[in-house]
Amino acid sequence: MNLRHCIKVDDFSKSEIFELFEIASEVKKKFRNKENFKPFQDLSLAMIFAKPSARTRVSFETGFSWMGGHAIYLAPQDIGLGKRETASDLAQLFSRYNDMIMARVFSHNDILDFEKNATVPVINGLTDYNHPCQILTDIFTIWELKKSNFDHLKIVYIGDGNNIVNSWLRLSSILPIEFISISPEGFYPDNTTVDLAKNSGISSIKISNSIDDVKNSDVVYTDVWASMGQKDEIDERIKSFSSYQVNSKLVSTAKPDYLFMHCLPAERGREVTNDVIDSKNSVVFEQAENRLHIQNAIMLKISGKI
Ligand code: CP
Ligand code: NVA
Repeated sequence: MNLRHCIKVDDFSKSEIFELFEIASEVKKKFRNKENFKPFQDLSLAMIFAKPSARTRVSFETGFSWMGGHAIYLAPQDIGLGKRETASDLAQLFSRYNDMIMARVFSHNDILDFEKNATVPVINGLTDYNHPCQILTDIFTIWELKKSNFDHLKIVYIGDGNNIVNSWLRLSSILPIEFISISPEGFYPDNTTVDLAKNSGISSIKISNSIDDVKNSDVVYTDVWASMGQKDEIDERIKSFSSYQVNSKLVSTAKPDYLFMHCLPAERGREVTNDVIDSKNSVVFEQAENRLHIQNAIMLKISGKI
């Protein structure tokens, strides 16, 4: 079997994404029923974190352990990625000890170095550029809740044109969706990725700076205004983003049964108000739970266990 990694959403074809949904649904049932399911018996996963995490760490560790394996958490100070040791040396090292590597890093080049130098599957747990496990989770959550193939759904992201948006754009080059990304000028998503999405001709893509584009949306998605590594820019950013807050006035223009989504962690009262994130339209904890199930599906698929 060829070595497979999950570095970007489009490492999977359209049919494989639907296959991931089926596997995730199956393992979700098994996990909830506490079934005995041990495909990773005697195997280990190295989990390398250069940035903080709650969901990614706990969902990977819980999932891999439940499936019979041993997951090893490495905190930023354990590894000193780029300071104490290079990504390429670590990739070669952990390929000798472990059966799979998951890494959350700052520079996207680091995850590419892991991909290039590892001889075991590598999973991207977020970089400054993208977050494939999150967006595969999000589209799975929409698939579950809207019972649809998405083509007639209007998915609107509002906020910083960050790693989350770049991943939505990459998804839109594989699956047909209507995707609008709304950001203040100067905070648009990566140009090359916008071009990739538009040139694929698969989806309807709009990059906008107008909150009017939230009108009639089926999904309203937001994320923090300053990502990890940018937190010291927040005071400056608040000035640019204040009219892009997801609040009850803004979502009153969305469809009545719209879904509110957020990858979490949320900075409540900043990019989203409590009345929206705690409303009946909000599915943020369904998303968070599904990280576990889609990642289990990804690990099963790329390791050839399924
Ligand atoms: N959504 C997400 O990746 O959360 P963590 O940063 O807590 O892992
Ligand atoms: N854009 C956020 C996502 C966190 C899951 C960040 O990179 O900090």
